[in-house]
Amino acid sequence: MQWKNVLSTMKPYKPGRSIEEVKKTYRLDNVAKLASNENPYGCSSTVTEFLMSAALPFEIYPDGHGATLRTKLARKHDVEESSILFGNGSDEIISIISRALLDENVHTIMPTPSFPQYAHNAKIEGANITEIPLKDTYHDLNDFIGAINDRTSIIWVCNPNNPTGSLIPSDELESFLEQVPENILVVLDEAYFEYVTDPEHVDSITLLDRFPNILVLRTFSKAYGLASFRIGYAVGSSKIITELNKVRNPFNNNTLAVAVASEALDDDGFIEKCRKLNEIQRERYKSFAFETGLHMFDSETNFVLMEVPTDADEASEFLLQHGYIVRSGNALGTPGFVRITIGSEEQNTGLLEAFTLLLQEKGR
Ligand SMILES: Cc1ncc(COP(=O)(O)O)c(C=O)c1O
Repeated sequence: MQWKNVLSTMKPYKPGRSIEEVKKTYRLDNVAKLASNENPYGCSSTVTEFLMSAALPFEIYPDGHGATLRTKLARKHDVEESSILFGNGSDEIISIISRALLDENVHTIMPTPSFPQYAHNAKIEGANITEIPLKDTYHDLNDFIGAINDRTSIIWVCNPNNPTGSLIPSDELESFLEQVPENILVVLDEAYFEYVTDPEHVDSITLLDRFPNILVLRTFSKAYGLASFRIGYAVGSSKIITELNKVRNPFNNNTLAVAVASEALDDDGFIEKCRKLNEIQRERYKSFAFETGLHMFDSETNFVLMEVPTDADEASEFLLQHGYIVRSGNALGTPGFVRITIGSEEQNTGLLEAFTLLLQEKGR
């Protein structure tokens, strides 16, 4: 078969290890998965109660328009309904954007290390890629501007950034957007928006009138605790959304996913509670890093990138043996660090105990 040449240089996505697999391998009764930035508090009870009695017309194709959810989200964000695009997770939206705009004749700019799907999709489409290294853990937006050429089609901004957790100050982001030519799409991937506690942070959806070339990505996978349903959305100008809709598969979100996302939007209190609990637990990691002298990146998300006293794969393996699945920085472009999803109070206590054992074993 004539596969695209680039596929010979790529690997399929390798998911982290599952709780069941780790339990079996290491003969553990309790394992906490702190590797994929899921919500340790689950999802809103509004959703679980709804699911108990959800009798939906499963034999009928989903409403490809997601009408009820669309109306609620448009009201929440004070935008037109035609400004919203739903995806099977924001992962799918990233691939829709790439498919719609990228090919071998165009150029795209993205941060590194960052969420790998931008580069992954751009490679498949054959685009020319410029990866801009983070500077002191932040996007170097001046370098982004410097990298623009007359073929640049998309600029990807991950804010807050995965895997560092760092947030671009809103004034810096706005002055960057002022410099980007209007014919370039700026994707603001904000998967962790709901966890941000910086009081200065401006909701970028409110910038859409000033910058019609931005597209804001949000997801129900993180703070809303609905990762398994695979639903995310983009907010942008109706013109951009219309073009992207030409690429979207007709029934890309299933009926149940759209229904639970809609229920979840009725419980702002749950998101508020999770943001607060996460902030309290994030402070524990900060104190731990301070006390142990380990470097930890300033995080505005539900994960932290923590320095380890040994090779990151070895550290991850050690934590795994103690029942904690984390992500080795070697796989994320941040060797010497592990990415830990901020769990519940109990999970974090256990993880920090295991981390302390690791430090002792390494004489730190
Ligand atoms: C920055 C970022 N963008 C997008 C995604 C994909 O999220 P979804 O579950 O909505 O596909 C993730 C998931 O980890 C992420 O970290």
